[in-house]
Amino acid sequence: MLTQRESIADIQAAAAAVDRTLLMIPGPTAITAEVLAAGARPVLSHSDPRMRGFVAESLARLRTLFDAPASQPIICAGSGTLALEIALANLVEPGDRVLILESGVFGGRFRTIGEHNGAEIRVESAPVGQAIDVDQVRRAVESFRPKVVTITHVDTSTGVRLDVEPLCRVAREREALVVVDGVCSIGGEEFHGDAWGVDVGLTASQKAIGAPPGLAIVTVGQRARAARDNRRTPYPGYFTDFKNWLPVMESYEGGMPGYFGTPAVTLLANLHTALEELAAEPMPQRVARHAWIAGAFKAGIAALGLENVAAPEVNANTLTVVRNPDGVGDELVDAVRAEGVTIARAIHPELRGRSFRVGHMGICGPAEVLTTLGAIERGLYRLGEPVDFGVSLAAAQQALSRR
Ligand SMILES: Cc1ncc(COP(=O)(O)O)c(C=O)c1O
Repeated sequence: MLTQRESIADIQAAAAAVDRTLLMIPGPTAITAEVLAAGARPVLSHSDPRMRGFVAESLARLRTLFDAPASQPIICAGSGTLALEIALANLVEPGDRVLILESGVFGGRFRTIGEHNGAEIRVESAPVGQAIDVDQVRRAVESFRPKVVTITHVDTSTGVRLDVEPLCRVAREREALVVVDGVCSIGGEEFHGDAWGVDVGLTASQKAIGAPPGLAIVTVGQRARAARDNRRTPYPGYFTDFKNWLPVMESYEGGMPGYFGTPAVTLLANLHTALEELAAEPMPQRVARHAWIAGAFKAGIAALGLENVAAPEVNANTLTVVRNPDGVGDELVDAVRAEGVTIARAIHPELRGRSFRVGHMGICGPAEVLTTLGAIERGLYRLGEPVDFGVSLAAAQQALSRR
């Protein structure tokens, strides 16, 4: 942390050092120069025809990204947590039952939001690194009869990816609404919102979409809209109310500006370019690219003798959570950063101080994977760990060459 006494030169030196560091955390992620430059323009009125075009095109592209042609996307200023709150709070009234499928700490956010809205909560979870069993969920749905089931597609604290489709099917067999947190999956993992039966999907701008942080994104299907319209009790929220956002978004898509809260016009310009870049890469190809990159990174980690937290069959393509060697703590994250790559500490209570997290989504490619593995090798070496230099790079190169 800089203090007031430090000189401008110190600040510039620190900024220059930060600029050269490769950002490999699981969000916010590195973005392209074009996405960054899209925001470097005079501030536009939210009713300016150019802004109207940005928003309308972005909404259409989000429908494609979520593969949710019959859903209405909402974009508003905020982070992923706001998206979780918008998604769940509209559907839940005091006494309603919410079943949370928890595969890491982010399921806990749904639990807290549900509790704040007076819901009766049941949590189904699995041991760290494992997916939740579909039969376990079916039994919970049968006995608890929830109004809403929440699913965290990829939990960023464990690297576990849940298979959303069968979970939606089980929930819908008993007419439950399904809310899916795609903050760490949308744009990097396969997702078919409408076909899978997702009633509300959500994400944020700063991960696999490749835009700066600051925008919450929610898609609202017909059943979710009806649940909000037919509430028994008045909705206690205001900024988060579907009814305030849906008409504004529909208005933009109809070619007219809408206003509820001043839109984050600069971020909307960044997002517009990020979604334009995304649209240029067909989704199946983008998902395959993420799998290829993830495979190379995970192969490098395995070659170093390090273990993934997530079991192989449920290991996400957007990030990897890695167990540290015995006796090594968070100093590894600091050592890797000193080698020029920013990775993240663990946030799951069972993994804190014992593992690290690397994001490989959005624009991440072979260069970033190889640089990161190299920095991890040197970080381990600086901490006195035995390292056979190049071993992780060789394994990653082999995997990359198999495309
Ligand atoms: C899966 C998941 N859900 C929700 C969130 C919360 O998003 P935000 O930090 O943008 O509020 C995160 C953040 O990393 C996340 O990874």
